[in-house]
Amino acid sequence: MKVLVTGAAGFVGSHVVRRLLDSGIEVYGVDSMNDYYDISLKEARLRLLVHPNFTFHKANIEDRYVVNEIFEAFRPQIVINLAAQAGVRYSLQNPNAYIESNVVGFLNILESCRKYDIKHLIFASSSSVYGLNKKMPFSVQDNVDHPISLYAATKKSNELMAHSYSHLFGLPVTGLRFFTVYGPWGRPDMAYFSFTKRIVEGTPIQIFNEGDMKRDFTYIDDIVESIFRLIDLSPKPNYDWDPLNPEPSSSSAPYKVYNIGNHQPVDLMLFVNLLEKYIGKKAVIEFLPMQAGDVKETYADISELYQVTGFKPEVTIESGLQSFVSWYKEYYN
Ligand SMILES: NC(=O)c1ccc[n+]([C@@H]2O[C@H](COP(=O)([O-])OP(=O)(O)OC[C@H]3O[C@@H](n4cnc5c(N)ncnc54)[C@H](O)[C@@H]3O)[C@@H](O)[C@H]2O)c1
Repeated sequence: MKVLVTGAAGFVGSHVVRRLLDSGIEVYGVDSMNDYYDISLKEARLRLLVHPNFTFHKANIEDRYVVNEIFEAFRPQIVINLAAQAGVRYSLQNPNAYIESNVVGFLNILESCRKYDIKHLIFASSSSVYGLNKKMPFSVQDNVDHPISLYAATKKSNELMAHSYSHLFGLPVTGLRFFTVYGPWGRPDMAYFSFTKRIVEGTPIQIFNEGDMKRDFTYIDDIVESIFRLIDLSPKPNYDWDPLNPEPSSSSAPYKVYNIGNHQPVDLMLFVNLLEKYIGKKAVIEFLPMQAGDVKETYADISELYQVTGFKPEVTIESGLQSFVSWYKEYYN
């Protein structure tokens, strides 16, 4: 099997590539190596992936000619699209980056998937698509028409674009709504990472909404395991799908959306206390009001993921954060 992974030097992408290589799969990785965060961390992740079955190509998926060339040369059966401009807050500062990578780039991936008859396209969506929704836990059966950041809007757009290609060209496609992924080799722009850095340095951490927030933190290994299991489970058309009462997560086309979350929202302050415990140092906290674009709580209903894969995320926040802090201490000496 040949798998193309975009965003291969990214946090999730590098872990996914590792898992595929360990299973004897031939992998082609693409990443633009952009400087949204420390490029040397992306380079360090890539150094761990050196393997005879791995080819890496520094390329931007916004360039449709390059994307086409990659498909032509590698001829993958499976495509896992993780390349994206991530981050909710940055989408208020640089909205164009989101349209370019997440919308234009994703269109290029879809076009090549159509042209090269890809057996299964898996792509990253996000829990942020639940936007203004307050009904907990968030279910793939819920309507997600009320995003509150452009980041979320581009992820919802990906789901819609993917559905149209699935319907028009019979492309089997699975969208994955990840819930706050964390772990070793993580993303420096995310709270668990920047809080750790600041606690270690003794500089203040900013806690929004007076700490009254909850996140369904999902450990990276659980995300990787879910993706790995889904590779062979490409969606089939749902013959029971009723256009008079359209169920949002599936379709008469081979299209499916899943949540991947821990199904256990953690109070932000508990999370800070655990970080303090594992780092062995108290945080200096600056409480601030809620930030635009942020949601107060996330909580994933993962029943459909479990039903199809027989797997549910299982790493506890205690053990996951401990692993992250040990990696952090070792990586940054
Ligand atoms: N980490 C999370 O908590 C989380 C939550 C929900 C969704 N997601 C989604 O999961 C995916 C992976 O996220 P991550 O946390 O690994 O982020 P990441 O930023 O570490 O990885 C994304 C990678 O894509 C690359 N990239 C960006 N634009 C590109 C382009 N136009 N062409 C080629 N490469 C490009 C970046 O250089 C980066 O290495 C993203 O789609 C993200 O939106 C992540």
